[in-house]
Amino acid sequence: MTKTILRALAGETLETPPIWMMRQAGRYLPEYKATRAEAGDFLSLCYNPELAAEVTLQPLRRYGFDAAILFADILLLPQALGADLWFVTGEGPRLSTVTTQADFDKLGRGEMIHDTLNPIYETVKILRRELPEDVTLIGFAGAPWTVATYMIAGQGTKDQGPAHALKAENRPLFEALIDRLTEGTIDYLTKQVEAGAEVVKIFDSWAGSLKGEDFDKYALEPARLITSELKSRFPDLPVIGFPRQAGDKYIGFHKATGVDCVAVDDSVSPEWIAENVQPGGCVQGNLKNTHLVTGGQALIDETKHVVEALSKGPHIFNLGHGITPDADPENVQIMIDAVRG
Ligand code: CP3
Repeated sequence: MTKTILRALAGETLETPPIWMMRQAGRYLPEYKATRAEAGDFLSLCYNPELAAEVTLQPLRRYGFDAAILFADILLLPQALGADLWFVTGEGPRLSTVTTQADFDKLGRGEMIHDTLNPIYETVKILRRELPEDVTLIGFAGAPWTVATYMIAGQGTKDQGPAHALKAENRPLFEALIDRLTEGTIDYLTKQVEAGAEVVKIFDSWAGSLKGEDFDKYALEPARLITSELKSRFPDLPVIGFPRQAGDKYIGFHKATGVDCVAVDDSVSPEWIAENVQPGGCVQGNLKNTHLVTGGQALIDETKHVVEALSKGPHIFNLGHGITPDADPENVQIMIDAVRG
């Protein structure tokens, strides 16, 4: 029997949508915090295949989701290209910046990334051995634009100002970085699939700050290139795109990029998604993650609302963005029960 997520990705409308959750392995779970402490810190956890596989499996044991997402991070690729990367507790990631030609020239390319990323492929192999047979394994990478925003600023930013500034002041350098990341992402995802990832997802968390032609050039086009290259290597591989906060640019995203599924955030209503995005193919989303903090009847009502509004086409239930550390683990079970009835 084909796994439910793969059926939805192939365009089938299912009676009950399959479900998984962005950041399903994470700090809202006490067992995650314990394993992270054992590893030492977040990056050591990412690069320890046994422990990274363990935290990937933890939410599966607790909740029986339909998919597991590889435990890693979108910023491991810049690190593999030669950027320094570290995490400041309570604040987030820090990287050495790429704002000049000299910075760019220090980045590597090609096969060298695998020297750093090999433990990640090891995690994928362990997971394929250990996952229950009805659970789908999702690999992932950041989209070039989103990863570039962190590399250019050296950290997360509210408005991606430094990346927009580099784009305006030195477009050739900016575009060279996007191209290098596109190439690296294809190599990275290819190895994940060879190791056993059954689906890949491209996270473009900051796509919403690209407007007009910039969106087409730096969000759509890299997603199209990555998808078409992966599909030429693996014709049956389903790809999920997540151009977060793309607004009207969600419309036509399936067709323009070739992705099988578009993940949609919670800035638009499920009715809007049903009308404007789902006609293009499978959609994923889009419960607001704060319901997992506040719970109660609103959590149940809103979960059922999302399921009902998207029930007439292919749908994978998920949040609009990752679960937050202050979420109550019990609310996750309540959400799953509301989806599965
Ligand atoms: O979804 C999953 O459970 C799979 C693993 C995963 C992580 N990060 C683990 C993680 C995935 C898919 C990501 C994607 C990611 N990482 C994105 C895109 C998705 C999104 O959320 O918009 C981005 C922008 C990053 C970069 C990143 N990593 C930031 C900004 C931070 C700090 C913010 C925070 O929550 O602390 C991280 C750290 C991170 N990545 C954590 C986890 C579980 C928390 C680390 C910890 O344990 O302290």
